[in-house]
Amino acid sequence: MILVTGGLGYIGSHTVVELCVKGHQVIIVDDLSNSQLSVLDGIEELCGHRPIFERLDLRHKNGVESLFERYDITGVIHFAASKAVGESVHRPLQYYENNLGALVNLLQGIKKKGGTNFIFSSSCTVYGEADELPITEAAPVKPATSPYGNTKQVGEEIIRDTCKVHPKLKAIALRYFNPIGAHPSGKIGELPLGVPQNLVPYITQTGIGLRKELSVFGNDYPTEDGTCIRDYIHVMDLARAHVVALHRLKEQRNEDNYEVFNLGTGNGSSVLEVIQSFERVSGQPLNYKIVDRRPGDVTEAYADTEKANKILGWTARFTLDEAIASAWLWEKKNRLG
Ligand code: NAD
Ligand code: WQD
Repeated sequence: MILVTGGLGYIGSHTVVELCVKGHQVIIVDDLSNSQLSVLDGIEELCGHRPIFERLDLRHKNGVESLFERYDITGVIHFAASKAVGESVHRPLQYYENNLGALVNLLQGIKKKGGTNFIFSSSCTVYGEADELPITEAAPVKPATSPYGNTKQVGEEIIRDTCKVHPKLKAIALRYFNPIGAHPSGKIGELPLGVPQNLVPYITQTGIGLRKELSVFGNDYPTEDGTCIRDYIHVMDLARAHVVALHRLKEQRNEDNYEVFNLGTGNGSSVLEVIQSFERVSGQPLNYKIVDRRPGDVTEAYADTEKANKILGWTARFTLDEAIASAWLWEKKNRLG
């Protein structure tokens, strides 16, 4: 049975569906701090059955231990975390407690059980402003610019150190680039609470009329059109990568029992290119204006995907237009029914 923490969240819910489709039994744990129980209905429709769900805050050590006592857990995919970069600057302790406290509790539960396979949601944020592009896994980790980013760096270190001394714990950290899009059915997708901080949900909410206009943060970067470049990856490609990584863990034989992989498409797109993609797939113009740069934004980040291609046998399949079209379908279904 695969334990999916944060399984009602954005990436977790899509991965749960992918796991179910591939025949895995899943138990979802979520405290609903950034998700809604109704997501379980969408998951049920797509899986054909309702996966086991436990509402639990992973900061509660006893609750986590009890999970490992009550279920035969053979793998853990750990999505649960707080993820708002800006908020983390104002509430560092909340982020360290949630993102690192929950991780330590899980690893202690696994240790007590005698080990298991573990997948960790990491982020391209660990690379900061990389010296070379595309970014390989060998690129140095840069000093974190936010407590959120630091929880991903330290989280990776905690897992690596624990794997060294517990031979029955095998782990993979997946460094996602910019996840976007939704399940092609439009039954599950991204549900940001309040004003979206990320580009694509802001675009689709502007397109549907919920926001007046998108602010493009700076057009004076040293890129072709002056806007920042990112590697936008379809959430369905990400979901599939987690299932592949679970298989990899069954064969993983490297000395450290720990590996890191980039998950991106390998292609960089500028903010203006993403807007053009939206206009193409939706057939409508988008209201936007250019404003000042957002502090902390890096100019360019896109993945070298060779390691994931070679070792996991995984490659992203969806184009930017397909990902944006799925995000738009989700926005319309979610808002208009
Ligand atoms: P999300 O907020 O949609 O999902 C996280 C889920 O975890 C939510 O449902 C939330 O209720 C739950 N949760 C949070 N703290 C919990 C706790 N203490 N106990 C139990 N449940 C808890 O986020 P997401 O976009 O699906 O991100 C999933 C993971 O991927 C996170 O670790 C995030 O940091 C990482 N990540 C996300 C992105 C991105 O842009 N979305 C990029 C890189 C990495
Ligand atoms: C993308 C581009 C913005 C909003 C964040 C986290 C990172 C990772 C992924 C978790 C940038 C521009 C955005 C808007 C804009 N998350 N933009 N107007 O910043 O690359 O990465 O999510 O690990 O840690 O920092 O993603 O979607 O916020 O921005 O112009 O209203 O869109 O400047 O160039 P980002 P994003």
